[in-house]
Amino acid sequence: MAERLKWWQKTVVCEIYMRSFNDTDGDGIGDLNGVTQKLDYLKKLGVGAIWLTPCCKSPQADNGYDVADYCAIDEMFGSMADMDRLIEEARRRGIRIVMDLVFNHTSDQHPWFLESSSSRDNDKSDWYIWRDAKPDGSAPTNWRGIFGGSAWTWCEARGQYYLHTFLKEQPDLNWANPKVRRALFDAAQFWVDKGVGGFRLDAITYIRKPAFSDAAPDAGDGLSAIHPVTANTPGILDYLHEFKAAVLDGTDLFTVGEANGVSAAELPEWVGRDGVFDMVFEFSHVLIDLENEADWSSARPWQLKDLKRILRDSQENTAADGWYAIFFENHDMPRCVDHFFPDTADQDSAARIIATLMMTLRGTPFLYQGQELGLHNVVWDDISAYNDVSTRNHYAFLIEEGHSEEEAMHAVHRFSRDSARTPMPWHAGESAGFTDGTPWLPVNPDYPVRNAAAEEQDPDSVLCWYRALAAIRSKHAVFTEGGFEEILQEHSQIYAYIRRTKDAEAIILTNWSEEEASYDPALIEGAALLISTEGIKNQRGRLAPLEAVIYLR
Ligand code: NOJ
Repeated sequence: MAERLKWWQKTVVCEIYMRSFNDTDGDGIGDLNGVTQKLDYLKKLGVGAIWLTPCCKSPQADNGYDVADYCAIDEMFGSMADMDRLIEEARRRGIRIVMDLVFNHTSDQHPWFLESSSSRDNDKSDWYIWRDAKPDGSAPTNWRGIFGGSAWTWCEARGQYYLHTFLKEQPDLNWANPKVRRALFDAAQFWVDKGVGGFRLDAITYIRKPAFSDAAPDAGDGLSAIHPVTANTPGILDYLHEFKAAVLDGTDLFTVGEANGVSAAELPEWVGRDGVFDMVFEFSHVLIDLENEADWSSARPWQLKDLKRILRDSQENTAADGWYAIFFENHDMPRCVDHFFPDTADQDSAARIIATLMMTLRGTPFLYQGQELGLHNVVWDDISAYNDVSTRNHYAFLIEEGHSEEEAMHAVHRFSRDSARTPMPWHAGESAGFTDGTPWLPVNPDYPVRNAAAEEQDPDSVLCWYRALAAIRSKHAVFTEGGFEEILQEHSQIYAYIRRTKDAEAIILTNWSEEEASYDPALIEGAALLISTEGIKNQRGRLAPLEAVIYLR
């Protein structure tokens, strides 16, 4: 089995949010040289691949997810020479760079869109999704974009509407046009030729559009969320097989698709032997606390058994010949300690439980910057403090729908994307060592105590726990090669499973409750303690509140 695993199955991927990682030129915004400067820090976390959020030329309407040139670096992040240096310096340390391909849409400032929107009869007139108005002049359908408001915007020059799944500054490309697909594949090839190690495919489930018709309104604005109508529609895999054959086959790059809208049951056709990607981000576990992901007021309670079932489904559906992308945070989500644990829980212990799952479930861990420090959500009192466009729009939507300001801010505190986007706290000094200038977004106020330098000195820190687990994961093949079997399924406090090869078994037990929990010690008979958050105080058959432990036999 060992030789069959690919390099990206044996490593840890770290997602870097370009704006917020490390600023070396004093403009308050992170840059490529800042990433190069911190490669050794990442190496110590067992990181073998770095997913950079978009750093291509962009007007930044959605912080880089609105690309105006797929083959140029945005000046704000540095130059192509900086990128070449990063790729090379990373390669010298055994780290590959992973690019974020934003292929569902471009910026409205991309030359393709400028041409397409200039008239109805230019060479690129059908590179985007253009439709006539309804007879009354209104938008072609009543779809609400993911960031709020109609998903259609009127273009005077064409006398038509164009579709945008996200902001009006992010028009959707027309993948049905083979010339569009070719141009996108060429852009990906540009980065393959540069020597990158893989791609994350942004919003990829939206590329195939269904029939254009109204859906039943789901809120007072008379609109209907676009996601359920356009995500993962039949035929989408044909486009992605074409992408794979054109760009990936014969390379050692990996792909991970952002696959909101793909269920666990569908994973085999996305990531199985004949799948289109090596891995996908499947969202069920991170949406566990929302009834309707488009509505932050639909927060719902959940129990450990719900999370267990979701993780079991995705582990089992990738068991035969697929591979899972393990993630509990990214730049679009709250910090995991606040997301998955109550305020009463000791937050460092909570962070260590998630860390344990990250490093021991079957799949490749995708760590998000700052998660290794156990960072928390920020709580800013006023909506004007928030930079993220989706947060501001969501707040406005909640107010329009009749929620009080307090309720709307409560939802913002719980779900805003800015919580994960605050600058990396490197040390306790000025601006947390992130910049010599003014950070583009305030640093989390707990940075004097919670920062990388402080945690490096503290053997009990979340950072040291991550490093220890990363070392264990790379030392013992069972964590990468082993199968997954859940145990104690009915236990209301403990989430536990066994990773098993023919030579070894690792038993992972995590206590999600703030009370002591017990289990039958026969489960770990003959196994030795490998690591526990309680150290030598660990007791067989018992877990301290929020303890995580691994046994090996
Ligand atoms: C998903 C990205 O992760 C998010 O940050 C972005 O706003 C949308 N796709 C649109 O590209």
